Amino acid sequence: MNLVCQYIIMNTEIKKIMAFNDESQIINKIIVGDCLEVMKKIKDNTFDMIFADPPYNMQLQNELYWPNNTKVDGVDDEWDQFGGFEDYNKFSEAWLKEAKRVLKENGTI
Ligand SMILES: C[S@@+](CC[C@H](N)C(=O)[O-])C[C@H]1O[C@@H](n2cnc3c(N)ncnc32)[C@H](O)[C@@H]1O
Repeated sequence: MNLVCQYIIMNTEIKKIMAFNDESQIINKIIVGDCLEVMKKIKDNTFDMIFADPPYNMQLQNELYWPNNTKVDGVDDEWDQFGGFEDYNKFSEAWLKEAKRVLKENGTI
């Protein structure tokens, strides 16, 4: 099973890799980089499974509570800041489109 890690740490070294042509560059590797850039370098139908825990645009304007009355802890990290729903949708569609392309026909996400 081939998996790719979705973690981001902007890394200039990744730009030196034009394409992942050899599976040994991917299998059992953690590829550090912007997933939008990294996935473009991976050929179609590569992965059996994709597991992603992406930004959720959890910028709460007001207090929000779970059904058990505990307070929802929003996210204020820089990676979760988007210009608005349109920006967030653009980001989500971009990574999902690439994820679909690199996922095998019978793969799962
Ligand atoms: C909801 S958090 C996931 C946290 C992770 N599951 C953990 O336990 O540490 C979303 C993560 O996506 C990363 N991220 C945001 N944009 C990204 C991108 N374009 N490419 C890769 N990772 C990205 C953020 O840095 C953040 O760590």
